[in-house]
Amino acid sequence: MTNPQNDEAHASAEAGTPAAGIFVPRVAIGAFFTSPEIAAVIEDAAGDRRMSRAHVSVKPGGIAAATALYHETPPPSLIIVESRAEQRALFAELEALAEECLPDTKVIVIGHANDVALFRELLQHGVSDYLVAPLAPLSLIAAVSRIYRHTAEQRLGRVTAFIGARGGAGSSTVAHNVASSMASLFDTDVLLADLDLPFGTVGLDFNLDPVHGMVDILHGADRVDEVLLDRLAAKPTKGLQILAATSALEKAYDLKESDLERLLEIAQTAARHLVLDLPQTWTSWVKKTLQSADEIVITATPDLGSMRNAKHLAEFLRHSRPNDVPPRLVLNQVGVPKRPEIKPADFAAAVGLEPNICIPFDAQLFGTASNDGRMIVETAGKMQVARAFENLGRTIAGQRDLQNSRKSARSLFGRLMGRR
Ligand SMILES: Nc1ncnc2c1ncn2[C@@H]1O[C@H](COP(=O)(O)OP(=O)(O)OP(=O)(O)O)[C@@H](O)[C@H]1O
Ligand SMILES: [Mg+2]
Repeated sequence: MTNPQNDEAHASAEAGTPAAGIFVPRVAIGAFFTSPEIAAVIEDAAGDRRMSRAHVSVKPGGIAAATALYHETPPPSLIIVESRAEQRALFAELEALAEECLPDTKVIVIGHANDVALFRELLQHGVSDYLVAPLAPLSLIAAVSRIYRHTAEQRLGRVTAFIGARGGAGSSTVAHNVASSMASLFDTDVLLADLDLPFGTVGLDFNLDPVHGMVDILHGADRVDEVLLDRLAAKPTKGLQILAATSALEKAYDLKESDLERLLEIAQTAARHLVLDLPQTWTSWVKKTLQSADEIVITATPDLGSMRNAKHLAEFLRHSRPNDVPPRLVLNQVGVPKRPEIKPADFAAAVGLEPNICIPFDAQLFGTASNDGRMIVETAGKMQVARAFENLGRTIAGQRDLQNSRKSARSLFGRLMGRR
């Protein structure tokens, strides 16, 4: 059986683009394998950032083990079972499992028979999806996400986290200019959040004087909803919303991972793109934010310290996000007069990432823009550096468009399946 959605997920993973719009909510999932290959796939999927909200328990024994367990304990929201049984035995086993399910329990079957008739029968009998082994982890995640697509539809925003490889590399400057370009060029709404709570420069760079800062918002995160967020955000230009940091040093900034999580969930319903300006620190919430973002942009200067940090960051991200595109690299402040520098090609080879854009050092241009509270794109719209920011914005925003066009080209079969 050709499973177009498996193919789609494979294709997007192979093309290096994460399947957009995948969202798995906070649900319990019980998965029961019968082969070590599928056990590994489930473990991989469970460890993926897209599944980080879900609680997945993985056990051997297939449908029989699931039936026995849920006879004793309440079933989770979703049960994933692997089976090699022939059609008749498979249906008998599923019927026994159904006895232990609640009306809203969902079941995904992972089988080894490439059989359209079996697939249809299973769907008619209330199985949510039938996936054929061999299977990529991302295909399984996509199938789980499809089950919860109504929840997923409410979550639109794509998160891009910007971090510097060392202090002062220009990460905030890049984040602000890219966010501004994306809002003005692509007619998309962008929410820029300054997460450098004590020392953030978003307010200065956009010439804003925010009354409420990120700290106030984060401290009241449990009360923040879309309406309040909209009221608190500054809107300097069409399509751009800004949550700035106010420097009030008497407050403490040791955030917990959960403080940010809720705010990001709400912000993702408020804007199509979320640009996070992260501080150059390594706290648990910065680490968690990087692990869970859709895209990451590392800004580095062409020196040894920056190169070492960028390499470590890239390795960490590659390891903790095996199913994602690697981070984007911005090489900034290239060509400072008289400063010995590492050449872009050598930098790329050492870090294992090609720079997406290289930005020259230009004290006059960046200094003036910063002092005037304006973006480079505004002050030097025709210069190459403005094009560079636009190109990076296009790369980040373009992924979604690519995914959208993929979606619309999906076969009827795929769309029918997607409706389940
Ligand atoms: N290409 C450039 N040429 C000249 N100056 C630049 C360039 N890029 C950034 N700058 C300047 O470098 C300074 C630091 O930039 P920025 O605040 O964006 O860095 P950062 O990496 O966010 O720093 P921090 O570690 O403080 O968060 C700013 O004054 C900015 O205007
Ligand atoms: Mg910064």
